[in-house]
Amino acid sequence: MAPPLTVPSMTAGADFVLRPWEMSDLPLVREAAEDDYIPLVTTIPTPYSDEAAEAYVRRQWDRAAEGEGYPFTIARTRDRRPVGSIGLWLADADAGRATVGYWMTAPGRGQGVAGAALRTVTTWALHELGIPRAQLLVEPWNTASVRTAESAGYRREGLLRGWQEIGGRRRDMLMYARLNGDRPSDDRPPTAS
Ligand SMILES: CC(C)(COP(=O)(O)OP(=O)(O)OC[C@H]1O[C@@H](n2cnc3c(N)ncnc32)[C@H](O)[C@@H]1OP(=O)(O)O)[C@@H](O)C(=O)NCCC(=O)NCCS
Repeated sequence: MAPPLTVPSMTAGADFVLRPWEMSDLPLVREAAEDDYIPLVTTIPTPYSDEAAEAYVRRQWDRAAEGEGYPFTIARTRDRRPVGSIGLWLADADAGRATVGYWMTAPGRGQGVAGAALRTVTTWALHELGIPRAQLLVEPWNTASVRTAESAGYRREGLLRGWQEIGGRRRDMLMYARLNGDRPSDDRPPTAS
């Protein structure tokens, strides 16, 4: 078994923090359970129950304890309100690859928060943990996620046909990746006019 991992707290932009899951995050699990898409691509329980939500939070703790990766809650700094989740998963870490997944619930959307969280996790993974490649998979229709990935310096690499089953149907997925040799988009010089 992989060694246990300690999930750190990190800032994501000026107004949000990434931190370990807490049992007080059950309202976030409830909001996510009401989303049409999030339960299809996560183990968020639907229909919601407190018991199933507590088991979800415990699963996040277990994933870190068993070395599977780093699950974070994305929370507003001002009032600690949880608004989403991001995880860095290490199943292929021996091959130099980590996979990222993220979601926001409705009240936190539309402010670019997922992009800020993704930039934080990716920079940390590539430059602090020394992982050569961070990757993520997005369905082609999911423009908000595509924009999120690109805003964090991920580049589109190709379409994986019939890659996985989501909601009872095989789905094509776009592969996005950022390498630790890539220049983050934030650092790109302005385009000459
Ligand atoms: C993908 C997700 C995390 C983005 O969260 P977010 O931080 O609220 O993202 P934003 O609303 O700030 O949108 C990011 C960008 O997408 C654009 N966008 C958002 N919704 C859009 C839509 N329906 N159509 C087109 N563009 C859209 C925004 O205008 C923004 O563009 P910009 O970078 O040019 O400003 C969120 O929508 C979500 O949780 N979706 C459900 C779960 C999911 O799909 N997770 C990702 C799986 S790969």
